[in-house]
Amino acid sequence: MTLATLSNKRIIVGIAGGIAAYKSAELVRRLKEQGAEVRVVMTEAAQSFITPLTLQAVSGNPVHMDLLDPAAEAAMGHIELARWADLVLIAPATADLMARMAAGQGNDLLTTLCLATEAPICLAPAMNQAMWRDASTQHNATVLLERGIQCFGPAEGEQACGDIGPGRMLEPTQLADSCAQQFQSEKLTGKHVVITAGPTQEAIDPVRYISNHSSGKMGFALAEAAVAAGAKVTLIAGPVTLATPDRVVRVDVISAMDMYQATHQVIPDADIFIACAAVADYRPEQVADHKLKKDPTVAEDEMIIRLVRNPDIVASVASQPSKPFVVGFAAETQDIINYAKDKLEHKNLDMIIANNVADTTVGFNSDDNAVTVISREVEEPFPPMAKTLLARKLIDFISHAVNNQH
Ligand code: PMT
Repeated sequence: MTLATLSNKRIIVGIAGGIAAYKSAELVRRLKEQGAEVRVVMTEAAQSFITPLTLQAVSGNPVHMDLLDPAAEAAMGHIELARWADLVLIAPATADLMARMAAGQGNDLLTTLCLATEAPICLAPAMNQAMWRDASTQHNATVLLERGIQCFGPAEGEQACGDIGPGRMLEPTQLADSCAQQFQSEKLTGKHVVITAGPTQEAIDPVRYISNHSSGKMGFALAEAAVAAGAKVTLIAGPVTLATPDRVVRVDVISAMDMYQATHQVIPDADIFIACAAVADYRPEQVADHKLKKDPTVAEDEMIIRLVRNPDIVASVASQPSKPFVVGFAAETQDIINYAKDKLEHKNLDMIIANNVADTTVGFNSDDNAVTVISREVEEPFPPMAKTLLARKLIDFISHAVNNQH
C-alpha cells in the first residue's frame, strides 16, 4: 500500500447504476480511512443497487441525488458541490455514464457536476467485458482521456454475469490508493506554513496612520498555493480587503507590533515562514489619544512626528535556534539583486524573493508580479505573470528547497 494520504482532501464519490455499486460503501470507508472527507452523488439507477441510507451512514454526509430538487439544491447545490471537491471519483462508471460524459451531457446531478467542476475527475469503469470492448465504449474512453479524465482500471477477471474478461471494477483499496496518488505531487503535505501578507498600519492618532500600498494579493496567493500543495497554512494578514482562501487559518493584525506577536505565537510549530508583508520599518513614538489638531500658536507650516524602529519580524524568526525554513521578500526600486542579497545575509534568511516595486505593472497592488528568487545556491528569475500562477511556482520552488535541505 502506498504511503500517500488523503488527509485534508474532499472527494466526491459518484455512483452510477451497475452491480459494482455494492462495493461503493466499502470504497467510501477506505477513502475516509485515509483521511478524506467524502460526499456521495448517486444517479437514479445507482439507487436500485445500493441505498442512499447506507452511503449516508458510511460517508457521514447527506447523499446527493437530484438536480432539480429545490430543497437539495438549497442545502448544497451542484455548483457548490463542484467547487467543494478536490477530486471526483466515479465508481462504478457504467458504459452509459461514460457515453453521457463523452457527449458532454448534463442530464442529471452527477454529469452536471462533472461539467461544472474544475477538480480532476477519475473513473472506475465497471461493466460486462463485451460492453467494455465495444467500439463505442472504447471511443468514449479515449474522448474522456483526451479531456484529462483518468480511468482507474478496469481489472480483468470473472464478472458478476459469469463472463471472464476486462470490465471488473478495481477493489476499493486499490481505488482509494489511486486517489491518494493523485495528490502525491503535493510536496508540502504535513508541513505548517506561516505567511505574512499585506501592509501594516502604524497609528499616529485615532484617525491617522502610516502605511503603504500592499494589497495582500501576493501573500494571499501564496497561502492558497501552499494549501493546494498539501500544507496547513496560517496567514497573518495586515489590513486588506481580500477574502480568506479556503482552508487557511487567518489571523488579522493592524500594526507591525501586532504582526510580530501573532507571528511568534505560531512560529514554534512552523516548518516554513514566508514574510511577504510590507511591514512598516518605523512607527510613531507616541500615539495621540485624541485626533491631533492644528496648533494655531505655531507659525511654521510643518509638523514633526518622531518615529521609532519596529522589530524586524523575519530577522527575529531567522535568529531563533530551531528556526523554520525562512523566506523573505525584498521590495526594491534600484540595484534589486544586490540589495536583496544583502538582506538575505543580514537577516540570515534561507531564501529571498526580490521584486522591482518601481514598476507599477508588477509588485504593489497589481495582479501580476515578476521576481528573482535568490538563495545561497541559486538565482532564478521568474518573468511577469499573474500572482496566482507565480505563487504556485514559488511554492513549488520553496518546497523543492525545503525537501532537499540537509
Ligand atoms: O501585497 P501586494 O500588493 O500583492 O504586493 C506584494 C509585495 C510587493 C508587498 C510583496 O511582493 C513584497 O515585496 N513584500 C515585501 C515588502 C517589504 O517590506 O520589503 P522590504 O524589502 O522592506 O523587507 C524585506 C523583508 O523583511 C520582507 O520579507 C518583509 O516582510 C520583512 N520585514 C521588513 C520589516 C520588518 N519590520 N519586518 C519584516 O519582517
